[in-house]
Amino acid sequence: MKETWFEKKVDKISKLDGYKKPDRHSNAIKLDSNENYAVDPSLFGDLIDEVKKSVDVREYPLGGVERIVRSLASYIKMPEEMVGIGNGSDQIIDLILGNLASKETRVLTSEPTFGFFEERCKLYSLPTTKIRFDGEMKLDFEDFTSKSKKADMLYLDSPNNPTGFQFPREQLERLIQSFEGLVIIDEAYVEFADYSIIEATKEMKNLIVLRTLSKSFGMAGLRVGYFVADKKFADAFSRVIQYPYPLNTLGIEAGILALERSKYFAEVAGLVKRERGRITEKLREMSVFKVFDSKANFVLFAAGGSSRRIHKALIEQGIIIKNLGKVGPHDGCLRVTVGTPEMNSKFLTAIRDLLN
Ligand SMILES: Cc1ncc(COP(=O)(O)O)c(C=O)c1O
Repeated sequence: MKETWFEKKVDKISKLDGYKKPDRHSNAIKLDSNENYAVDPSLFGDLIDEVKKSVDVREYPLGGVERIVRSLASYIKMPEEMVGIGNGSDQIIDLILGNLASKETRVLTSEPTFGFFEERCKLYSLPTTKIRFDGEMKLDFEDFTSKSKKADMLYLDSPNNPTGFQFPREQLERLIQSFEGLVIIDEAYVEFADYSIIEATKEMKNLIVLRTLSKSFGMAGLRVGYFVADKKFADAFSRVIQYPYPLNTLGIEAGILALERSKYFAEVAGLVKRERGRITEKLREMSVFKVFDSKANFVLFAAGGSSRRIHKALIEQGIIIKNLGKVGPHDGCLRVTVGTPEMNSKFLTAIRDLLN
């Protein structure tokens, strides 16, 4: 029998890898997914107890989106008309690509970049050019700018996952200003970085800045992502493109309460940054790794031919980090998320012992 259009389409999609989720390990020190264990888990227990008193989950969360948008706008000090939300920033990326791009949209990004973004470009058959990181895990600004002349869409995670690289502010501003297509700057890790580009959305109609509560607020399980952009886009996205109820009641209410405690989360981000410095320094002292500067809540280091052995031996000790293989010109790259000081010390001790 002749293959139907539907079968053909499924056949094509099933050949794609899709986003590969990390393996699940129970009772492990989980430093592979850039979550934020430095946030006190009892705080969320308290927040959820508070939410339980006031919500009725039999109801749709009517008005909830508007309320969390107001809280987010006040946290980032931007007009609420410029803010929209999604079920994680993943969903915002998906909706933007699925609705605004076509097979003619030439995308420019870095190699590597956020894996989910890459997979979505494949799903929607978007022609993608990638600029590779150099030996110091930096991007060449001139190269990026010149390649951008032939692109319709720029996507940069700033800081980048998995390298931790962020263009100096002045360079990123220049790149954005010189570009006429759509610019998506993903600031998932921005609270651990030196600067945010968010203010530029007031001047530029073609800039969308993505943010999330998954990282510095440690709320990855509640799936609250948001973006800042020109009012007209934010309105069209929220009113037409986005689902009527993209977040569940619990995510909305716990998100609002967490945002009221933003000072606490800023202190945690400060701790994470200090711990990132300690991990970087200690790994460098071991003199066998090339350790890259990071502006995010993780550290990337190249372990060359020893990477698989180290990764496996750490798993055997219940410490899970991410094995990335080749990144830029460096083989055997490993990425460790910054956890609590205790988790970080256990990781550092284990890796030091493995080298002896
Ligand atoms: C650069 C980047 N953007 C977005 C996300 C996903 O964020 P969310 O949990 O809001 O979907 C991640 C998660 O690892 C990320 O690394």
